[in-house]
Amino acid sequence: GSEGKLQLVHRHIRAFPDFPKKGILFRDICPILKSPAALTAVIDLFEERVRSHHLQVDLIVGLDARGFLFGPLLAQRLGVGFVLVRKKGKLPGPTTCVKYDLEYGTAEAETQEDAVAPGQKVLIIDDLLATGGTLYAACELMKKQQAQIQGCMVIIELKDLNGADRLKPHSVFSLLQY
Ligand code: PRP
Ligand code: ADE
Repeated sequence: GSEGKLQLVHRHIRAFPDFPKKGILFRDICPILKSPAALTAVIDLFEERVRSHHLQVDLIVGLDARGFLFGPLLAQRLGVGFVLVRKKGKLPGPTTCVKYDLEYGTAEAETQEDAVAPGQKVLIIDDLLATGGTLYAACELMKKQQAQIQGCMVIIELKDLNGADRLKPHSVFSLLQY
């Protein structure tokens, strides 16, 4: 059941103190990718959420870089396409760009202008919600493209940083909260 899958995912997340900077407790999802069962559990749980909430999804939007590891698997499972939100300077052709703040720095996010057609329903995927800066930037990009944001989904939510508040009125679903 879902509880067993959640426990399996939980057992495949490691914490590293003071990475990439002093004071940051880094949550490492690499063990999930190394375990076919844990990776399947993540996608199963994401899919269950989409289906139980009757979310209408035309496209999955994945965030650079760790959203790229899970987003395409969910998109395939749902039978929809996947589009990339990348760090600035990586995507060819006309693009849309926004600046954002991170738990440990600043960055710019970019999508191709033709990534999403106006009115398309998108679900935004990343591995982890910290301050919410990254997902907020993705929401801004999707708004610029006149997408209908159906919500955001992550494996891990760092509750103390209140990222979910920053994303309001959009909802965030997380598998595990720390
Ligand atoms: C991490 C993580 C999220 C983001 C969350 O990515 O994968 O994308 O930070 O932080 P936030 O909620 O405070 O914005 P990072 O920027 O380290 O880049 P990476 O995926 O390229 O490692
Ligand atoms: N991205 C932002 N904060 C993070 C953390 N504490 N662990 C892993 N990725 C992160």
